[in-house]
Amino acid sequence: MVSSALSPMKILLIGAEGRLGQMLGKLFAREDLLPLGHTQLDICDEAAVRRCFEAERPDCVLNTAAFHGIDDCEAHPDRGFAVNAAGAAHVARAAQSAGAVVAHFSTDYVFDGAQRKPYTETDAPAPLSVYAISKLAGEWAVRRYCERHFVVRTSTLFGPPARRHFREDFVGKMLRLAREGGPIRVVCDQWRSPTRATDLATLVAALIPTARYGTYHISNSAVALARGAGRRAARAARPLNPRVSWICGAAARVARAFGCGKRPSPQNTVSACPVLRRCVA
Ligand SMILES: NC(=O)c1ccc[n+]([C@@H]2O[C@H](COP(=O)([O-])OP(=O)(O)OC[C@H]3O[C@@H](n4cnc5c(N)ncnc54)[C@H](OP(=O)(O)O)[C@@H]3O)[C@@H](O)[C@H]2O)c1
Repeated sequence: MVSSALSPMKILLIGAEGRLGQMLGKLFAREDLLPLGHTQLDICDEAAVRRCFEAERPDCVLNTAAFHGIDDCEAHPDRGFAVNAAGAAHVARAAQSAGAVVAHFSTDYVFDGAQRKPYTETDAPAPLSVYAISKLAGEWAVRRYCERHFVVRTSTLFGPPARRHFREDFVGKMLRLAREGGPIRVVCDQWRSPTRATDLATLVAALIPTARYGTYHISNSAVALARGAGRRAARAARPLNPRVSWICGAAARVARAFGCGKRPSPQNTVSACPVLRRCVA
């Protein structure tokens, strides 16, 4: 539950059945909240978005809807742009007309990962994949079309899975592969700031009443190597399943070993959150 600072607000939660959407739904349960899953509101349908905002007149909208997964977006770029870019624009425009605040969620993948220090909000994006380009376009649309916005970039979310379409998080995937006996393939040259969905939801709830609009990085501070999680999962599973095997190497080597192309993933997306620290300190 969140503080009463948000209590007078009517909140629209879009993407309510996703991983983050569910967390926000729980957190805001006692508020005047309207949670909308994909079947209730498709953000690609501009007219439907407009009608929804005109009928509900929200004070605040939390837009967690996204088409993500690097491989899915590479395979279906039209859908990636329709949801992540055009959909975000539809929501932002409707919010502006309704006089609502938008909290929109984006990704650390807007960076190319070449930097050797943590990324901050002022670093220049350089997206590598369709997913990242479409999410960056969505960020720009929100900034352009809705004056009172929070663009929140986060990283490698983990927590209870989405309700409708099960999508594994990284930890769950490692444990499943370990249970199945592997092979677990992990890369040793990618660094992330994995983020607990509840922590992100809690910080967003604290951020909105500040009315300090802008772009924020919000992630947990630990730097995780896929290698560490893969090794721990393999070790944990070995007493139960001695067949479990794992391969760890540079992304290019792992891709070669498994006969697949190297995914367009950035190498380092470790994030620093200086703007958030200043704001909620
Ligand atoms: N998960 C991560 O590791 C991660 C990392 C960085 C940033 N983010 C960002 O954080 C946000 C939340 O991610 P998440 O992990 O909660 O994603 P998620 O579990 O996939 O949830 C996204 C939700 O959006 C819905 N959706 C898809 N297309 C839609 C549309 N056209 N209209 C309305 N709803 C639609 C999906 O419904 P269906 O499943 O029914 O299609 C799903 O319930 C996203 O903006 C994502 O880009 C996530």
